[in-house]
Amino acid sequence: MRSETSLRRHRARARLWVAVAALVTGTIWLWSSSSVVLFGTHRVQDFVVDELWKTADSNGWRASSAPRTYWPPPPTESESNGYLRVRCNGGLSQQRSAICNAVVAARIMNATLVLPELDANSFWHDESGFVDMYDVPHFIKTLKYDVRIVMSVPKITAHGKSKKLRAYKIEPPRDAPVTWYRTTALEKLRKYGAIYLTPFSHRLAEEIDDPELQRLRCRVNYHALQFKPNIMKTSSDIVNKLRSEGHFMSIHLRFELDMLAYAGCIDIFTPKEQEILLKYREENFANKTLVYKKRRLIGKCPLTPEEVGLIIRAMGFDNTTRIYLASGKLFGGERFMKPFK
Ligand SMILES: *[C@@H]1O[C@H](CO)[C@@H](O)[C@H](O)[C@H]1NC(C)=O
Ligand SMILES: *[C@@H]1O[C@H](CO)[C@@H](O)[C@H](O)[C@H]1NC(C)=O
Ligand SMILES: *[C@@H]1O[C@H](CO)[C@@H](O)[C@H](O)[C@H]1NC(C)=O
Repeated sequence: MRSETSLRRHRARARLWVAVAALVTGTIWLWSSSSVVLFGTHRVQDFVVDELWKTADSNGWRASSAPRTYWPPPPTESESNGYLRVRCNGGLSQQRSAICNAVVAARIMNATLVLPELDANSFWHDESGFVDMYDVPHFIKTLKYDVRIVMSVPKITAHGKSKKLRAYKIEPPRDAPVTWYRTTALEKLRKYGAIYLTPFSHRLAEEIDDPELQRLRCRVNYHALQFKPNIMKTSSDIVNKLRSEGHFMSIHLRFELDMLAYAGCIDIFTPKEQEILLKYREENFANKTLVYKKRRLIGKCPLTPEEVGLIIRAMGFDNTTRIYLASGKLFGGERFMKPFK
């Protein structure tokens, strides 16, 4: 379970890295070509850097999360098909996206959503649950026209005895389509009155052919899920302090042991380091044969700090740029950071 969980997390991060790299490369290409076409000089870079700190033009696109078609209210207690419990897993943002999926899943099944459970044993080794992190009254209120949300599965009274309704446990397929929820999951929900989906990360397809359900996802992520006031206060204090000294950039290099081991990026390390990486890989990830020499060539490796530095430099940022590194422990130590300085 654990290794499956971390594997997914790493796979998602690896994909993210590829996306970031592609985006950055694409952007640089755009600038370099426009500088040639429009200005024909390198002085254009000064102009570009100023632009970079600004909010990008939305080109007429606007936030979209309110329903645009008939959106019936969620079922009442007696109309509900049952209770949906989920246990989110993975890192913080993965669990957040799982919460969005849980709301959508409950909506699809006309189920009552039990406040999602967060995985306390994951990566962060943090015991905080949903109620410790998110503003629960705000969450429930914001989604009141979408799903009915309760704090826990209720007790039921049968034959004069009161007991907690037991949720039927299911491991949903990865990226399950809406039809899975409308058939398999719904059938069990009706039969048992409550289901427990676990693990619940990437268990609803990203692409859903229903814009209203996609909008619901946005409502959860951008409106309903708000950190608790004390967390908001701490984070805005930190950001304000950083901003008071002017523009800054924060970068998560992700040049870390687990990522490098997962991606099989060992070629640039010393024999001793390679041994550490391979051992970690063997102990934590699925046994998949990789051609280590090719991983970097085919774009599967996180960029080295030097490569990240080159990209930032190529964008036009100079040595006055303030950069904060958001990161775990950099693998390979100081020698990889030297060119970055
Ligand atoms: C959910 O409820 C709506 C009406 O409120 C109904 O149209 C829809 O068929 C129901 N779906 C399920 C899966 O029960
Ligand atoms: C791992 O894969 C190799 C080669 O594919 C195989 O020989 C070995 O038995 C596998 N080990 C385990 C533990 O699955
Ligand atoms: C920053 O770069 C300029 C040239 O662009 C150079 O003169 C200066 O010494 C550099 N400063 C540091 C701290 O490296």
